[in-house]
Amino acid sequence: MCGIVGYIGEKDAYPIIIKGLKRLEYRGYDSSGVALLNDQGLTLYKRKGKVSDLEEFTESKDKSGSIGIGHTRWATHGEPNDVNAHPHVSGDGKLALIHNGIIENYASLREELSNRGHVFHSDTDTEVLVHLIEDVRKNTDLNLFDSVRVALNEVIGAYAIVVLDKENDDELIVAKKSSPLVVGIGEPGEFFIASDATPIIEYTKNVVYLEDEEIALVNRKGDLKIVNIQNQPVTPYIQELELQLEALEKGGYDHFMLKEIYEQPRSITDCFRGRMNLNKGLIKMSGIDSYEGKWKNAKRIIIVACGTSWHAGLVAEYLFEDLARIPVEVEYASEFRYRNPIINEDDIVIAISQSGETADTLAAIKLAKDKGAHIFGVCNVVGSTISRETHSGAYTHAGPEIGVASTKAFTAQVTVLTLMALTVARKKGAVSDEKYHRLMAELSTIPDKVERVLQTNDEIEVIAEIYKDATNALYLGRGYSFPVALEGALKLKEISYIHAEGYPAAEMKHGPIALIDEEMPVFVIATQGPSYEKVVSNIQEVKARKGKIIAIITEGDKDVKGMADHYIEIPSCDEVLMPLVSTVPLQLLSYHIALMRGCNVDQPRNLAKSVTVE
Ligand code: AGP
Repeated sequence: MCGIVGYIGEKDAYPIIIKGLKRLEYRGYDSSGVALLNDQGLTLYKRKGKVSDLEEFTESKDKSGSIGIGHTRWATHGEPNDVNAHPHVSGDGKLALIHNGIIENYASLREELSNRGHVFHSDTDTEVLVHLIEDVRKNTDLNLFDSVRVALNEVIGAYAIVVLDKENDDELIVAKKSSPLVVGIGEPGEFFIASDATPIIEYTKNVVYLEDEEIALVNRKGDLKIVNIQNQPVTPYIQELELQLEALEKGGYDHFMLKEIYEQPRSITDCFRGRMNLNKGLIKMSGIDSYEGKWKNAKRIIIVACGTSWHAGLVAEYLFEDLARIPVEVEYASEFRYRNPIINEDDIVIAISQSGETADTLAAIKLAKDKGAHIFGVCNVVGSTISRETHSGAYTHAGPEIGVASTKAFTAQVTVLTLMALTVARKKGAVSDEKYHRLMAELSTIPDKVERVLQTNDEIEVIAEIYKDATNALYLGRGYSFPVALEGALKLKEISYIHAEGYPAAEMKHGPIALIDEEMPVFVIATQGPSYEKVVSNIQEVKARKGKIIAIITEGDKDVKGMADHYIEIPSCDEVLMPLVSTVPLQLLSYHIALMRGCNVDQPRNLAKSVTVE
């Protein structure tokens, strides 16, 4: 996710843009930039770092101009640096463009444009887009508004863009598909453009939310002209903002954690966007393709991570052993680094880290790298320390995760690890075509299944109310659901401060069952799958000792429904993909319980978002 801001009107553009970018830093903050049109022409300032770094850099520079665009970046293609920061400029220097989203077919577009003489200076997909618009305008007699529309017809992916023409300070062109874009209507001839309403609300409450595949022109005459990608006119629907600023930064949600839980259909989609092509029946993981031999000949995979990322690693153990038939060891990074571990050159080490800055994980991969292993990173922050320390990797594209308790990052990690396991299994011939394509097709339906689970939020809140005063809790799961039980327990304890433990359901008989009494809530992932009957037996063992059962069940399951004190129904899916769905109700449950206990959901006590110290 990135933040975009544009302004045209009578005021100085720069202060409005900078203030707006600061409001949008929760969307991304690894680099930023601004383009202004003034007497000097098109003036561009771009810097790695936060918006405040850009502000410091421009302190003594010319910042005049009543039209401009600005961008705060969450890198997806091209690491965070001054060159890759937005705005990006066309080859003839006339167009400046800012973009939030992912252009999936940027590589082929870049190749075509290079063959037509275009020269690129950055590693970004965005630069390709501004050159494409330039190319269309140059080769047709279309104006900029039409050139943007024609160019976007060739684009596959997500975008929210603003385009500024050096030779026309009277207008801005904007367009939107899958990424958000709001147009604020100020004084006559004054418009504010942004990723959401937070940079706009202090100037005007009258906004138009562009819909997908709409292109708009705004100008000093006060025109707001919208067409769709087929060039059919669209009547602007002007709304009046009701939300207050603070709520807007959270997208209307009460907390970042809740917002991020609800972002999961989008973040899971962004994980496989551009990697999984259902039409071609192929998954493309360039970080694996480039080292195909190492993956095909790997004798062992070692996964190093901490916390929630370690739980994603446990899911990956089941995925790689089940699908790719490669032995996997999952290690707490902090233990691995000090255990004098045996590491061989034909080992592959996967480091999983949302922040990409966790000290123990970083130390673990440095140790493995020194011993000759191949290091693969699964990170969410592009250009983070861990991602730069690995030989190759795959970003999760989940967007910034602000809530300390990891939610969308976990399901994004599991999505990427699923794509990886399927890719390696396919290369090794360890998975049948039928299963490979079936799991791909089913993975594409997961965002909708997660959406359906989110709709059970009210029922989950009722259950939370019943168990909010528990002092202990047990989470049980088998197979692919065992790591989900651990993750559910971690979510509860880290934000509600209730002691919770996750266990393999069968393991309960080896001790924890002594804990069971009528005060003990036992959350059981009891979805349909190979171990369903066994889990049902475990539920009966808990019931026999008066334990309270809260079961996550497959829609339509009547058996467990009859045994459980409470249940949450989730859509059925293959057990391999179940962690992506069954985790979500446990996230919501923890969120509501913590809230009811008056805990600080986004910043729990004693915790930090990234543990960069040992
Ligand atoms: C999870 O909710 C916690 N925030 C914590 O366990 C976290 O997963 C762990 O610190 C690892 O962080 P990383 O993914 O950024 O490396």
